[in-house]
Amino acid sequence: MIKGNEIYRGKAKTVYATDDPNRVIMHYRDDVSAFDGAKLAKLEKKGETNNRFNAFIMETLEKEGVKTHFEKILNERESLVRSMKMLKVECVVRNICAGSMSKRLGIEEGTRLSEPIFEYFYKNDELHDPMVNDDHIRVLGWASEDDVQRMRIKTRRVNNILKPLFDNAGIDLVDYKLEFGRATDDPNGALLLGDEFTPDGCRLWDKKTGEKMDKDRFRRDLGNVIDFYREAAKRIGVPL
Ligand code: TMP
Ligand code: ASP
Repeated sequence: MIKGNEIYRGKAKTVYATDDPNRVIMHYRDDVSAFDGAKLAKLEKKGETNNRFNAFIMETLEKEGVKTHFEKILNERESLVRSMKMLKVECVVRNICAGSMSKRLGIEEGTRLSEPIFEYFYKNDELHDPMVNDDHIRVLGWASEDDVQRMRIKTRRVNNILKPLFDNAGIDLVDYKLEFGRATDDPNGALLLGDEFTPDGCRLWDKKTGEKMDKDRFRRDLGNVIDFYREAAKRIGVPL
């Protein structure tokens, strides 16, 4: 596998081409961003921690039958994935009320939900990722009705796998964001889970102490951000 040119630089990852047009390298940098890029910093060991965290989760999901873009870890900070055409929609699942749902509806953070709540957001930093519903997605052409259904089914399956995984490690999986797309070499094929699953895109609370183990530590200036990412990683069995 030969590493090629940079093709996309996101807020925390850089994507590189390879000699295979249908495979790209995801490079996890030490950069952290919040509030749509308004708050930025570098955190030592973040890149390698998230690379390993994501690989572990993607491999766990694959073993359980959830198709993802992930292929393999290449080195400390890089993983090989299938090149994807992503849907412009973020799927959020909430098991416990927190963050924007608490603000929007005036419900106290930590309120347990009797069943998971699904929300969709339009992926657009300039508009601050506004919340949308399945009609917006379908009528505005961001995804077909079938794909909206499929995202919901896949997201529910992911929740059924990951919630107990964290639970058994003494961690509440409060909420998280998933992104889906199709591989460029299979444009009419199955919807695959893409992007990443790391503490940057979810909320993880220690069940005993209530301590936050995710990006809220950065958003809310709670300190020791990566120490907590690594503690969560170790508890679920990520080899660090
Ligand atoms: P929220 O409470 O800000 O709506 O976020 C819910 C969860 O989804 C939280 O774990 C963070 C994650 N998320 C992202 O990582 N990126 C996003 O753009 C959005 C909207 C949510
Ligand atoms: N993921 C978004 C960003 O990095 C939103 C957030 O985390 O606050 O800007």
